[in-house]
Amino acid sequence: MRVGTDFNDNWLFEGRDIVRLPHNAVDLPFSYFDETAYQRGFTYQKTFTADPAWQGKEVSVRFDAAMANATVLLNGVELITHADGYTPFEARLTGLLSPGENTLTVRIDGSENPEIPPFGGVIDYLTYAGLYREAWLIVKAPLSIGLHKIETPDVLADEKTVTVDVDLDNPQVLSVSGTLTAILRNTAGTALATASATVNGARVRMEIRGLTGIDLWDLQNPVLYHLDLELDTPQGRDATSSRFGFREVNFTPEGFALNGKPLKLRGLNRHQSFPYVGYALGRAAQEKDADILKFDLRLNTVRTSHYPQSTYFLDRCDEIGLLVFEEIPGWQHIGGEKWKAESVENVRRMIRRDWNHPSIFIWGVRINESQDDHDFYTETNRAAVALDQTRPTGGVRYITDSELLETVYTMNDFILGNEEQGGNRPRTPLRPQQEVTGLDRVVPYMITEFGGHMYPTKSHDQEQRQAEHVLRHLEVLNAMYGDPQIAGAIGWCAFDYNTHKDFGSGDRICHHGVMDMFREPKFAASVYASQGDPAEGVVMTPVTFWARGERNIGGVLPLIILTNCDEVELRYGNNAPKRVKPARDRFPHLPYAPVIVDSTNFTKEELGLWGMKWQAVTITGLIDGKPATETRFVCDALPTQLEVVADQTVIGRHDAVRVMIRVLDQAGHKLPFFPEPVTIEVTGNGRRLGPATVPLRAGSTGVWVQATSAGPIEVKVHCDRLGVGITHLSAE
Ligand code: GAL
Repeated sequence: MRVGTDFNDNWLFEGRDIVRLPHNAVDLPFSYFDETAYQRGFTYQKTFTADPAWQGKEVSVRFDAAMANATVLLNGVELITHADGYTPFEARLTGLLSPGENTLTVRIDGSENPEIPPFGGVIDYLTYAGLYREAWLIVKAPLSIGLHKIETPDVLADEKTVTVDVDLDNPQVLSVSGTLTAILRNTAGTALATASATVNGARVRMEIRGLTGIDLWDLQNPVLYHLDLELDTPQGRDATSSRFGFREVNFTPEGFALNGKPLKLRGLNRHQSFPYVGYALGRAAQEKDADILKFDLRLNTVRTSHYPQSTYFLDRCDEIGLLVFEEIPGWQHIGGEKWKAESVENVRRMIRRDWNHPSIFIWGVRINESQDDHDFYTETNRAAVALDQTRPTGGVRYITDSELLETVYTMNDFILGNEEQGGNRPRTPLRPQQEVTGLDRVVPYMITEFGGHMYPTKSHDQEQRQAEHVLRHLEVLNAMYGDPQIAGAIGWCAFDYNTHKDFGSGDRICHHGVMDMFREPKFAASVYASQGDPAEGVVMTPVTFWARGERNIGGVLPLIILTNCDEVELRYGNNAPKRVKPARDRFPHLPYAPVIVDSTNFTKEELGLWGMKWQAVTITGLIDGKPATETRFVCDALPTQLEVVADQTVIGRHDAVRVMIRVLDQAGHKLPFFPEPVTIEVTGNGRRLGPATVPLRAGSTGVWVQATSAGPIEVKVHCDRLGVGITHLSAE
């Protein structure tokens, strides 16, 4: 994508505050707030000077997103409206600028406009108002490079091809002539091949053939290439550069394949929201989310539930090798004809914005969990295929026997836990495909949600509940791995999220994540992490706070240890060490079954009966018979250390990074029930996003610290019991 000049500074918000984009119109408390607070109109204004050098050029301002119903005016004259809250739009200023000062006004309306998706019914997430992504000033030649789609049609052949379809932007309708050049570069920037075309129309197609020595984009080695485009015309010169990868995705009834190799998709859903500031975090936070999903949770897939997300997030998924299911905005409700037309347009906007991302492997072209609608979904599918024949479509439903108009039947299967609603079906992790589809044949099939509201679990919930939470994620993954007719499973969900009063725990939070809103892991996070190859990181998470009386009746058994080790060894007090192997019989299909320690592994005396002295334990994970990791739990936990740690110590210009705050015991474990307040003070060249005094939840809290100018930042955290913890950052 073309990047312009940063146009984010000095916006006058509501005639009162000078703000920088990304900006959240109304910051919310962590929980228990009135979600209608942002559901009204807001105005942003920016005064700038027209540069005489812009004469004869095309000038515009691009907004990466505005929530929602944006109207842009230049010097009081309306230029453009854009209702959708998730896709970019450009206000063209050419010919309209006054010499000297000009004022750009953006009016947005955060109310839930029933005329556009996702609104019209109730939705289980919040759509925080604001110019919550960035804005760019674009100055270019009158005839310029517009949308361009890069495709790699034959990645499995020895000699590869790259094609590019380029639309020329020609708003002044000038006569078209000139030359377009495409230069293929590798990641290091070395030119590998060049193609040129004479342009004489609005669209140019170029091909570069016979490419050898090309590395494919895959999950372990997500190699990216660049295609530079240069346009020379009598009206001037224009140039862009886009990244892409050589890769092929394919669904068959036998599952999913990346570059011809079968791959089980293991993922979680992601909402793009953060505590306090809603959607309005920039590059570092977006990238960090992708890193957390890939490297901490060891996923290979994410679904951008339920709308197109930040391109910083998608760019990072490209860079690190994380597959993305991207979908249009919507939640259960289908509106009238105008609304549907807008939704079809959303399909086009999403695909045109994102078609060059190799990480995106499927387009979601249904309103999440809506009912069948033959004409509407025929149209969304047609719109997708017309723009992109290289990717499959999916459409997320929870209904059975739904009409299959997409390439893949994508299903939210919430059957596990259904038995609790009085059904007579025994506990079932996932239904067989054909029971769901009602079809007489096997089709490409993928699970797009499970878990979630069926078993909400807070990070400070009782250990026993968290163990059950863990088991449910384990059981579904095991079922998915064991069923060749299921291409993969994407659980609900990665992170807890703020929501409307109609959902969640009444606190305006759906505690459905395997991580909390600060992206701090619950035990269930390790279900996913432990499925990663130990060569890339040994995981061993005992699902316990290690206390005698936390569970009903007492004790810590059965003790699930989420691990990719071959075996674990427990030393409880002075008892002889016990070795326990993974529960392969119970979880035959998981790449790495958990160890489950139960009473059969111990005598009652060894375990320490209720009323006896509680003791420490050391748990060692073994690989090939050798210790690979070890953790110790003390029997007399006390707050011992206040940990204050930033995701990164250097903050990009005006960006924000997360700082996690944890209270740890003598052995370095968080104190799960230490709800004391901490105060967070940020001094120097940064500011705190969110309140100064916050409680610890399950032993931790977090804060995003935003750089205000270049220079050092100090983050000082105070906790009565432990004094002060400090971390130093520096802003670029
Ligand atoms: C699904 C829905 C998600 C979320 C989830 C909660 O039905 O698609 O957006 O609400 O339930 O478990």
